[in-house]
Amino acid sequence: MKIAFGCDHGGFVLKAEIIEYLKKNGHEVMDFGINDGHSVDYPDYSLPVAECVSAGQADFGIVACGTGIGISIAANKVPGVRCALLSDTFSAHATREHNNANMMALGGRTIGPGLAVDIVDVFLNTPFSGDERHQRRIDKITAIEKKYSK
Ligand code: RB5
Repeated sequence: MKIAFGCDHGGFVLKAEIIEYLKKNGHEVMDFGINDGHSVDYPDYSLPVAECVSAGQADFGIVACGTGIGISIAANKVPGVRCALLSDTFSAHATREHNNANMMALGGRTIGPGLAVDIVDVFLNTPFSGDERHQRRIDKITAIEKKYSK
C-alpha cells in the first residue's frame, strides 16, 4: 500500500522505526518529513499527508507530534480525512472496523516506538467492517463536513 507519513519534532522519535516497519512490510512510503529533530509547526506536516489521503494518492496517512493531538486536529480539517489519535491497539482495531479511519496519529512523547509500530501494524491490517450501522454513522460525519464546507 501507499502510506503517507509526516511528523513534527515531537513525533520525530517514532519516525525511524515506523518507516522501517512500513518498508519491511512492502509498503511504499511517501515521506513528508521532518528529517531531523528541529522545531517546526505541526500543521505544516499534517497538511500534505492529509491532502494525499483526501485526494486518493495514498491509501493511508500516519502522522506524529508530541501528543498526536495537534497533528490529528489539523488532519481532520481536510475534507474526507478521518484521522484517529491512537495510543493502544484495541482502538487501532476499532477505528478501522467502525470509523473506516484513513489516517492515524501518534504521540512521540506519550508512547514508545515499540507500541507505535504495533499500533501501525493493527491499523493497516484491519479492514473496515462495512456494517450498515457503521457506514451510516460515517455518512453522518461526512454530512457535518459538507454542512460547514464553503
Ligand atoms: C510541540 O512542542 C508540540 O506542541 C506538538 O508536538 C504537539 O504535541 C501538539 O499537539
